[in-house]
Amino acid sequence: MAGRVLVFGATGGIGAALSRRLAARGAEPMLVARDAGRLRALGEAIGAPWQAADVTDAAALRAVAAAAGAPLAGLAFCVGSILLKPLARLAEADFAETFRLNALAPAMAVQAALPALTAGKASVVLFSSVAARRGFANHAAIGAAKAAVEGLAVSLAAELAPQIRVNVVAPSLTKTQLAEPLTRSPQMAEAIAKQHPLQRLGEAEDAASLADFLLSDAAGWITGQVIGVDGGRGALAGKG
Ligand SMILES: NC(=O)c1ccc[n+]([C@@H]2O[C@H](COP(=O)([O-])OP(=O)(O)OC[C@H]3O[C@@H](n4cnc5c(N)ncnc54)[C@H](OP(=O)(O)O)[C@@H]3O)[C@@H](O)[C@H]2O)c1
Repeated sequence: MAGRVLVFGATGGIGAALSRRLAARGAEPMLVARDAGRLRALGEAIGAPWQAADVTDAAALRAVAAAAGAPLAGLAFCVGSILLKPLARLAEADFAETFRLNALAPAMAVQAALPALTAGKASVVLFSSVAARRGFANHAAIGAAKAAVEGLAVSLAAELAPQIRVNVVAPSLTKTQLAEPLTRSPQMAEAIAKQHPLQRLGEAEDAASLADFLLSDAAGWITGQVIGVDGGRGALAGKG
């Protein structure tokens, strides 16, 4: 596949690990996030172009697509949030904002890039969460939004085949800035790690390596899949 790969959330834990991998294999990442200073630093480090944009702004998404040009070989949407609150304390705005960033924004990002993605063969990778399919207390807003990402992905995979493959990476707790409130206490981090059959938290590279594979030609017959990178937490009951 020739052409750039748009990486939204490129300065985040998983997005930066993915961008470095793409650049290392000559896959031409174009970096997108809000903070221009962090984008410039990463862009200079790996020799990649960048553009600052807020993914909740549809006009900004169109400007990014125009700057990226055509054809696009891929799009990875590595932006997200973790809002943990019991239902009784969730305001309507909490649900709306969580849905907007996690589910609506990737739909609009793919829509803006569609002409460039369909100009050749392309791969789209979205990010869900272990909490989309497995129930955890206080996850109503993010669990609902990430389940929507999975529905979005299979719908787009059907609609956009055969030109565009669409797959989802579904991590469990991964040591990035996003998860910092849950991992900053060593005791809490250790307790959560023990809830995973593989007995550790995720590293950004765990999810980035699967996203890199899904974006590559080596995954050329894979579409419409949701793949857990979760230490077994999503599928296994454990030994107990
Ligand atoms: N880490 C986990 O435990 C975990 C678990 C399950 C699922 N996930 C999912 O995995 C994906 C990657 O997560 P991560 O842990 O790598 O996140 P992260 O480290 O917090 O990085 C988030 C990235 O998104 C950018 N961003 C945030 N809001 C944005 C906006 N409105 N417009 C444009 N860019 C924005 C951030 O940069 P700026 O702030 O400069 O914009 C940053 O580059 C997300 O979809 C997340 O929901 C993560």
